[in-house]
Amino acid sequence: MSLDSQLDLLISSVQASSKYRTLSPDVVRTIGAQELKKRRQLKEAIKATKNKLHQIAGAYQTGKIEYAGWLQALQQTGDDPGALQTVCREIMAHHASTRERLVILDEFYHTLFAGLPPITSILDLACGLNPLAIPWMPLPAGVTYAACDIYQDQVDFLQQCFVVFGVEGAAQPCDLLQACPTQAADVVLLLKTIPCLEQVDKTIGRKLLDTLNAPILCVSFPAQSLGGRHKGMTVNYEQHFRELVADKPWQIERFDFATELVFRVLK
Ligand SMILES: C[S@@+](CC[C@H](N)C(=O)[O-])C[C@H]1O[C@@H](n2cnc3c(N)ncnc32)[C@H](O)[C@@H]1O
Repeated sequence: MSLDSQLDLLISSVQASSKYRTLSPDVVRTIGAQELKKRRQLKEAIKATKNKLHQIAGAYQTGKIEYAGWLQALQQTGDDPGALQTVCREIMAHHASTRERLVILDEFYHTLFAGLPPITSILDLACGLNPLAIPWMPLPAGVTYAACDIYQDQVDFLQQCFVVFGVEGAAQPCDLLQACPTQAADVVLLLKTIPCLEQVDKTIGRKLLDTLNAPILCVSFPAQSLGGRHKGMTVNYEQHFRELVADKPWQIERFDFATELVFRVLK
């Protein structure tokens, strides 16, 4: 069987599993092709592809994902900002990355966006459920918010969330491994994503930092592993990040939050 036919079979087999059904076929193709090259045995390549997809995406989703119910709960908060924040927090707890951020949420965006020129557009890459943090972001009216990740049902849900928040937003599936977005924005959020994508492509961090079309990048790294706090993790991530930007004339500020290390890059 040709490699192309094997890849088609691999993609349909992975997508037949309910866990991966709503994943962008592009990302399944990228990882499947890589695993097929390494293994050739279709069955093993399917297993390895699922494992990798779990590592880079599935492992972050926790508890029951109920987009329709979540949307309804958001809509029912009406004009009550406190109730809206409560529901957003509950939803964000279903993605490990935003769940870790809940304890620093009150200070996170106020700190990161302080002292910047007025923000008119944000690009949130590999966003997970982070757009649910919009109610904590000090943003002027009229801001546009573009977000992307690899799950079609997740981005459909986020698109509806923008309506609830009254924000002009666009959420769509993307595969950052295939193409670096070149869309212009005032601020790009690349939160806790470089280590995740580097599990598939070691050069992705550098490519993204080089290509992203924004004067300000907020690039972050987790201060804990999925299993809990990990001593020395931030030291290693900082060293890695500094290597990625070593030859750049960019101005870099460092923010050490309890659960996340952020670098604000002024390109
Ligand atoms: C560590 S989480 C970070 C989520 C979010 N940025 C945050 O900090 O709350 C990594 C995210 O990358 C997404 N992802 C994995 N592979 C991707 C790819 N090839 N293209 C775009 N997003 C991807 C996952 O679905 C997951 O939501």
